[in-house]
Amino acid sequence: MNASQSGSESQVKSRRIAIIGGTGPAGMGLALRWARAAETVIIGSRNAERAHDAAARIAARIKEEKGKPAEVSGLENAAACAAANLLVLTVPFEAQASLLRQLKPAIRPGSILIDATVPLAAGVGGRASRTLGVWQGSAAQQTAELVPKGVSVAAAFHNLCADLLNGDAPLDCDVVVCSDDPAATKLTRTLAAKIPGVRAIDGGKLENARIVEQITALLIGLNIRNKACSGIRITGLPPAAYLPPPET
Ligand SMILES: NC(=O)c1ccc[n+]([C@@H]2O[C@H](COP(=O)([O-])OP(=O)(O)OC[C@H]3O[C@@H](n4cnc5c(N)ncnc54)[C@H](OP(=O)(O)O)[C@@H]3O)[C@@H](O)[C@H]2O)c1
Repeated sequence: MNASQSGSESQVKSRRIAIIGGTGPAGMGLALRWARAAETVIIGSRNAERAHDAAARIAARIKEEKGKPAEVSGLENAAACAAANLLVLTVPFEAQASLLRQLKPAIRPGSILIDATVPLAAGVGGRASRTLGVWQGSAAQQTAELVPKGVSVAAAFHNLCADLLNGDAPLDCDVVVCSDDPAATKLTRTLAAKIPGVRAIDGGKLENARIVEQITALLIGLNIRNKACSGIRITGLPPAAYLPPPET
């Protein structure tokens, strides 16, 4: 093993994922899947005790499954941002802007923030199968406007059904990753591919998040009509487009 290999391996080992608003179904499901894949996960919440409880539930579940402890802890959201340079935002759209403004001083320069927010009309009393217009084009682009300079934003995980994420079976769904920063796309694809069944696809620029966010509203409508947990699969790409990027 050469020096650069050992350096990059320790970088992967020291990666910490902080899930902001991680106590809800989407955040808990991602935390569970990544903790199972031996990632180090911090669950963030407005309330530190709620974060600890959520982390303890995931830790107990993994201990029971694997017989060994998982690297999962809970912190108040700002402390979670300060403790990690890989952030995942899983809060309702109506909370997104105010929470990001509040957390801005705690977000470390050079961090990557992965946004899973869908601007559902349900947040303002409308239907969950409809989305709201967002001035910036998408919830993810709004996030990009609100994070400190030098923080890269990727959009991903919108189309994964949280009920399935919180289960044990592989997911029958692809994750489309959109970002203007190739390094953020790569890391997000790497994390997405840790979820069994998921193929992580480069969806191009962050502006494409608008399309991926809208698909979630379509899936919610399908789920309501069919009492199901639907997902998406992208077909017809060359095999390499479905492979996770090599970890560096
Ligand atoms: N559920 C799904 O299947 C799914 C799938 C893909 C994407 N998404 C998207 O992912 C996001 C999270 O989904 P979810 O279903 O997990 O949402 P949720 O349960 O409604 O909210 C997630 C967490 O956000 C925090 N939160 C709620 N209101 C807040 C506020 N006003 N300010 C700050 N934090 C607040 C809460 O944590 P604390 O109270 O502990 O702070 C809550 O547990 C949404 O944007 C959703 O559209 C959801």
